[in-house]
Amino acid sequence: MGRILITGASGNVGRYVAQYSLENGQEITAAGTHTDTLAEMFGDRAEIVYFDFTNPKPSLAKKYWIEVRGLEKEYCTVMSILYLMTRLGTAEKVTSVFEEIMGKKPRSFQEFVRKNAASWK
Ligand SMILES: NC(=O)c1ccc[n+]([C@@H]2O[C@H](COP(=O)([O-])OP(=O)(O)OC[C@H]3O[C@@H](n4cnc5c(N)ncnc54)[C@H](OP(=O)(O)O)[C@@H]3O)[C@@H](O)[C@H]2O)c1
Repeated sequence: MGRILITGASGNVGRYVAQYSLENGQEITAAGTHTDTLAEMFGDRAEIVYFDFTNPKPSLAKKYWIEVRGLEKEYCTVMSILYLMTRLGTAEKVTSVFEEIMGKKPRSFQEFVRKNAASWK
């Protein structure tokens, strides 16, 4: 049984779909524009992703990298394309390359959101 994406997972309808899915052993990705709310609701039980159907571009992550982290725009463009590919599901597995180059384990998007939620408020 693969993971399912539930958009509007914090809403009146979505929260029950998410709860029912979890209770039945289904892995879920909970999506919405308020990832902090989703994190409060689901904690570790769901993967949480930012998704705004009015703005499908990964521009928010790019804005964070440029404005908060102070990284170079070109670097952020490459990272945002990698991020988009990952979100589209074209990155099928985690390799050891990141750890070999950076000397640390890669973080999941969920961990990234938890750590940086305050940056987007
Ligand atoms: N409730 C009913 O009885 C009922 C009956 C028939 C049909 N419907 C339809 O079912 C849908 C959900 O209803 P609901 O009552 O659950 O609504 P709701 O409580 O208002 O929840 C809406 C959900 O959509 C998310 N959302 C809002 N704007 C978004 C955006 N730009 N990008 C991504 N996610 C966004 C919200 O999460 P964030 O705040 O995190 O973005 C929230 O989780 C609606 O289309 C509604 O018309 C509802």
